[in-house]
Amino acid sequence: MLINLIGKNALVGGSSRGIGLGIAKQLAQSGASVTLMARREEQLREIVASLETSSPEQNHQYLVVDFNDYKKYKAILKGYFAANTVDILINNTQGPKAGTPLEMEVEDYQQAFDTMFKTVAFTTQLAVEQMKARKWGRIINVTSVSVKEPLSYLVLSNTIRAAVVAWAKSLATEVGSYQITANNILTGYFDTERLKELNQKKAEQHQIETSEVRDNMIDNVPLKRLGKPEEYGYLVAFLASEQAAYINGANIPIDGGLLKSL
Ligand SMILES: NC(=O)c1ccc[n+]([C@@H]2O[C@H](COP(=O)([O-])OP(=O)(O)OC[C@H]3O[C@@H](n4cnc5c(N)ncnc54)[C@H](OP(=O)(O)O)[C@@H]3O)[C@@H](O)[C@H]2O)c1
Repeated sequence: MLINLIGKNALVGGSSRGIGLGIAKQLAQSGASVTLMARREEQLREIVASLETSSPEQNHQYLVVDFNDYKKYKAILKGYFAANTVDILINNTQGPKAGTPLEMEVEDYQQAFDTMFKTVAFTTQLAVEQMKARKWGRIINVTSVSVKEPLSYLVLSNTIRAAVVAWAKSLATEVGSYQITANNILTGYFDTERLKELNQKKAEQHQIETSEVRDNMIDNVPLKRLGKPEEYGYLVAFLASEQAAYINGANIPIDGGLLKSL
């Protein structure tokens, strides 16, 4: 099976490092033109220059955005969609701050909702308008295993990701007749800066070494290792392809077997 995304334009959130970067690289390797989004322009510029361009149609670009500044984000995205078409939308935002229900202020939920839901719903509406006109589209949401098995220390993820997944299911029903698919990926433990930062915080809280937190985490995964961002990219490239045209409204875990439930 050859994944061929030549001629397709992909917009990838949070793609200056980690999972988003793994996705962007693989989409470019499969022939898509990729637009990256993140805050750090220097990183974005370097990545755009390094992405695969073996197809003459490929033209990569970037948008400097901050998901926390909704007003500005809206203006930038409106401008981008006025001049570009998006066939493949990867909704990947920053992760929420860690904490349990009793540690959170009510404002924390609002902030996480604005960053992780509002920006996603807004961007998707712009993309769907175009996809409907062309009768083809792929919407892929980076979410978490927390929607199936809530994580004790990440209540904001448990709450807001669940909203994204439920919203995407409704969306999949509504846009399916236009041959647009909407799917959620339920992310397990991936070896990224975010995971390192979360592990550091946990280590400080429990007054243990970060390596011990990491080892315990790995021990919970049947495959006994963390996921690699490029492995994430393989799944996304497949879901974005023609071959995945009949996968819609699905929640697909990529977690090395971490989820215990069916
Ligand atoms: N890694 C895991 O094990 C894991 C597990 C479950 C779920 N997830 C979720 O998967 C997503 C990606 O995780 P990751 O591990 O790849 O995270 P990461 O390594 O921290 O990367 C986050 C990316 O988002 C960008 N970003 C962060 N804040 C932003 C903002 N306010 N506006 C625009 N861009 C922003 C960052 O670039 P700039 O700093 O340049 O903006 C970076 O490119 C997150 O939502 C995370 O919660 C991850």
